[in-house]
Amino acid sequence: MGKAIVIASGKGGTGKTMLAANLGVTLARQGHNVVLIDLDTGLRNLDLCLGMENNIVYDVNDVLTGVCRIKQALVKVKAFPGLRFMAASPQKPSGEITPLHIKVLCNKLKKKYDYIIIDAPAGIDDGMVVATGGCDMGVIVVTPEYASLRNAQIVKETIAAQGIEKIAYVVNRIDLNLMKSGRAPSFDEVTKNIRDNIVGIIQEDENIHISTNLGIPIASITDTPISARFVAMAARIRRMLDEE
Ligand SMILES: Nc1ncnc2c1ncn2[C@@H]1O[C@H](COP(=O)(O)OP(=O)(O)OP(=O)(O)O)[C@@H](O)[C@H]1O
Ligand SMILES: [Mg+2]
Repeated sequence: MGKAIVIASGKGGTGKTMLAANLGVTLARQGHNVVLIDLDTGLRNLDLCLGMENNIVYDVNDVLTGVCRIKQALVKVKAFPGLRFMAASPQKPSGEITPLHIKVLCNKLKKKYDYIIIDAPAGIDDGMVVATGGCDMGVIVVTPEYASLRNAQIVKETIAAQGIEKIAYVVNRIDLNLMKSGRAPSFDEVTKNIRDNIVGIIQEDENIHISTNLGIPIASITDTPISARFVAMAARIRRMLDEE
């Protein structure tokens, strides 16, 4: 049986979509069958991060409303055998989507795929709660800003309230120069309350920014320090998922 992971954050723009794409690519490169699902309905952009914007016919909503079968909405991500992608709907759906809908979808996908990675909308509104349906683990992306750190605590409580016990953190956009000069919270401040559950730390890096804009996930460029970070992160996440 596969496992589902929701990628969340309290603040917008922390790097959820970047992380989802690169984690998906990393796991697929290791030979796993992976599905990336964009649930940031209305503001979707995982397709852009993967360079897949011209390949979408059906989206998650079409699956949930019976317009198409799951298979029809799963797009193969070019260059990565084993990686599939399901796009978010560009508009808010007319009917209500509940966590149970996503749970049913995840449970079907878990029979065939090893990892389902869900890119959630920012915040703790209904859209994020829906994205946790059927998930075995939550990964919260924080950035070195006080607002992000405070919001992360609230996101953690919201995810835990959905019955998800495995919750990890990725600290993204670390800029050591800003930290050292006191213009951003120090590393200790950032990690104080989450230290035991950090699965990855990613530096601020213009190559990451460029790669998301080009639609080429940075982890796909092998044997670089950044791709090694994603490999280590994927290993920690897998270990947490495998723990009883
Ligand atoms: N470590 C990094 N270094 C430089 N740029 C980054 C880094 N992580 C993310 N970015 C850039 O920050 C922007 C926001 O990233 P991304 O879209 O992944 O965030 P998000 O959390 O999904 O945002 P939203 O809440 O709007 O969905 C993108 O332009 C991305 O390229
Ligand atoms: Mg996003």
